[in-house]
Amino acid sequence: MKLSFSCCGMSCCDDAPPRDARVSQAEIGLVYDKLAKIYDIWGALTESRARHRAIELAAVEDGQSILEVAVGTGLAFEEIVKRNPHGRNAGIDLSKGMLEKARKRLQKLAKANDSLNYSLHVGSAFDLPAQTESVDLLVNNYMFDLIRYADMDRVLAEFKRVLKKGGKLVLVNMTQGETLPSQLYDWIYRLSPKTMGGCRGVKLEAKLKQHQFSVQTREYHQQMLFPSEVILAYKPV
Ligand SMILES: C[S@@+](CC[C@H](N)C(=O)[O-])C[C@H]1O[C@@H](n2cnc3c(N)ncnc32)[C@H](O)[C@@H]1O
Repeated sequence: MKLSFSCCGMSCCDDAPPRDARVSQAEIGLVYDKLAKIYDIWGALTESRARHRAIELAAVEDGQSILEVAVGTGLAFEEIVKRNPHGRNAGIDLSKGMLEKARKRLQKLAKANDSLNYSLHVGSAFDLPAQTESVDLLVNNYMFDLIRYADMDRVLAEFKRVLKKGGKLVLVNMTQGETLPSQLYDWIYRLSPKTMGGCRGVKLEAKLKQHQFSVQTREYHQQMLFPSEVILAYKPV
């Protein structure tokens, strides 16, 4: 039996069930309305490298139809829109507060650029505002770590519905720490899920494969001990 500190904060076995989401989707919008003011500081300190890598892997081509689900304050969306000025860029999120920050960020960008094409709306990953097989690239950062395991299949089915055949999916999640110190965040979550904005470590690769996504890469990144996974996958042709 392999010992680990990852499951319950005490040494326990590796095959214990992973921790499930404890902040309901009904509450998430309000939780992130409150976090919106400080989110960019957290994002810069702990998530910027994984987010940057996600943008690299996305390899945006101008003219594409791109959807970012859970766009937050627009940290990745700004980079996407810059690279896709003549395509379609849509961002949705549950939190009006996060979207307000994203709007301000994109308005600034639009002032410096004549032609940018984007929209930002309140919306849910469970019911995407996009037609079937209409999206070239779907980006989704740090959202599955907020979703209950029982609900992940519905979201992945929705992602698959809107992506074109051969379409690209780029995902970033808080993941399970691979070093003992990086499990600090799991401890904080255990004591107070809302302090972590409701995020706990997840691993999505197996679920993606169950949904017939072809996973090209799954990378582990750690920044300020915060563990992230960055995944590039494709919908089958
Ligand atoms: C940890 S933040 C990440 C924001 C952004 N993706 C980033 O990387 O900076 C999580 C975001 O997911 C949003 N969210 C959570 N569940 C969602 C859902 N079902 N549909 C859309 N957005 C959701 C929250 O409102 C919040 O803005």
